[in-house]
Amino acid sequence: MSSFQILKRLVKFIRPYRWIFWSSAFLAIAMAPLNAILPYLTNIMVDEHIMKPDLHGLKVMAIWYLIVLFVLTAMRYGFTILTNTMGQQIIFDLRNKVYSHILSLRLSYFDKTPIGTNTTRVINDLETVNSVFSEGLITIAADILSLLTVLFLMFWTSVKLTLICLVTFPVLLLASYVFKEKVKASFQRVRTQVARMNAFLQEHISGIKTVQIFAAEQRVASKFKDINKEYTQANLDGIFYYAVFFPVVEIISAASLGFMVWWGAQGVLEGLVTIGQLVAFPMYLARLFQPVRTLADKFNTLQMGLVAGGRVFEILDNAETAKDSGQIRSGKLKGDIVFQNVSFSYNGETEVLKDVSFKLEEGKTLAIVGSTGSGKTSIISLINRLYEIDKGSIQIAGHDLKEYNIEFLRNRIAVVLQDVFLFQGTVMENMTLKNNRITLEEVIEASRIIGAHEYIMKLPGDYHYVLAERGSNLSVGQRQLISFVRALLCNPDVLILDEATSSLDTETESVLQHAIEKLIEKRSSIVIAHRLSTIQHADHIMALENGRIVEFGKPSELLAKEDGLYKSLYETYFQTAEETPGY
Ligand code: UTP
Ligand code: MG
Repeated sequence: MSSFQILKRLVKFIRPYRWIFWSSAFLAIAMAPLNAILPYLTNIMVDEHIMKPDLHGLKVMAIWYLIVLFVLTAMRYGFTILTNTMGQQIIFDLRNKVYSHILSLRLSYFDKTPIGTNTTRVINDLETVNSVFSEGLITIAADILSLLTVLFLMFWTSVKLTLICLVTFPVLLLASYVFKEKVKASFQRVRTQVARMNAFLQEHISGIKTVQIFAAEQRVASKFKDINKEYTQANLDGIFYYAVFFPVVEIISAASLGFMVWWGAQGVLEGLVTIGQLVAFPMYLARLFQPVRTLADKFNTLQMGLVAGGRVFEILDNAETAKDSGQIRSGKLKGDIVFQNVSFSYNGETEVLKDVSFKLEEGKTLAIVGSTGSGKTSIISLINRLYEIDKGSIQIAGHDLKEYNIEFLRNRIAVVLQDVFLFQGTVMENMTLKNNRITLEEVIEASRIIGAHEYIMKLPGDYHYVLAERGSNLSVGQRQLISFVRALLCNPDVLILDEATSSLDTETESVLQHAIEKLIEKRSSIVIAHRLSTIQHADHIMALENGRIVEFGKPSELLAKEDGLYKSLYETYFQTAEETPGY
């Protein structure tokens, strides 16, 4: 996307705030001549009312001068407020839009984009985009307009004096250009480093437990120090260019002034220049150099804003959202679940599921077993379309998954994940996921069925107990129970359970066992099971190996098989159970 295209797209966001835009444009146009007219008034005051003494006229002019100054200040105030309000409003809209879009993106996007990068887009990049509206666009136009009016009045007052003043201009333009390019490069480095720093911080604060457990603080800190160093260096480089540029501009403007005074004073003596002009010109010069000094900077800000805008649009243009063309959006999801020659890969290369076909009849339970990495979690991620399959088809109740509206599909299928994720908030909020239609009574009833009620009553504040981020102030078993209640509250037609691998004490085991039985009761269920007790009660067992189904059948059938995967699993289990007391 070219800068111009980005600008065009950004400008579209102005539409709801048209009146603010036009008001500030109007102010910009009005301010330019007012600003330029002040030296002109001084010029007249000196020549017409001081050199030829006219006290009354001088008073009138002084009052006019004050009025212009006052109006100009009021307009500047209004201009700043308006442009910034517009910027903030547009960013507010954009931020909501970007976040909603991120929420709708497929998991495969998040697999390859660090969290820190996403937060950088939503927070830092959008803040930079803001400057396009608050400091870019109109402000640049206002500066150029003001520059042109000042130049016009200068030429009108004295062509020769103006030309003398402009002798240094080429040097100034060259300096501005070099400055602009240098600062741009260092700005880009700053932005890249910010994104890196955010991603690093995000990851290592989330993983603080692991960092501390392995006493890796020093290594992490030293890695951070490196990133921090590069970030600081990038900032310092930028500061260096500013530190050089502004004094250079000062020198150039002083030189201009010097030339002007030198030539102007001679002109006065020779009667070519009036005293008034000589007094007014330094004022013109100040007004000429002031915008030039900031323009280079503002162009950069605009350009950076556009670069950031480009990145934000990249997210908005990311079409990795679930294509939802499904029409079925009501009724129940009752019927057989059928996989036909399904193949799937996360990255489009390595297939993690190969030619998987099976059928689960309505209301039955399927237990999936297999060693780690064999593809169990992958299979269930396909059923509610978290990922798209590469080949084959998946049908529920005689319809392809794609025929179902995704929201409907996900509302009818409850998934309890291997690693339970709880949000900061109360127990109740975590169970209902902030669905206000679910009452406390219903929550309590579901908790009783699951067997979680008495555990929750033990928490201070019971259902209103406030969980920390990720529910870190709960035990693993408690978190699991909450996620079971969450699933039961959905009253799904299909239940999918990815049992946690962590082994728990016998009491919690039996509580969870009971909970699982309640969950899978009367509905089609797919359970990735690690406990033999769960597996034994299933209607079918599927054994996976390297993404392929190696065994499928009733538990009794599989047990009868010589050298079967399930059989060996079964035997190992009883062996361990005998060896480990209390298991
Ligand atoms: P699974 O996550 O399906 O394995 O990954 P699993 O059977 O459930 O394993 P456990 O019992 O929970 O440990 C199957 C393969 O898919 C890859 C993994 O590398 C693994 O080889 N994978 C998994 C990805 O490439 N990306 C993912 O996001 C997840
Ligand atoms: Mg898994």
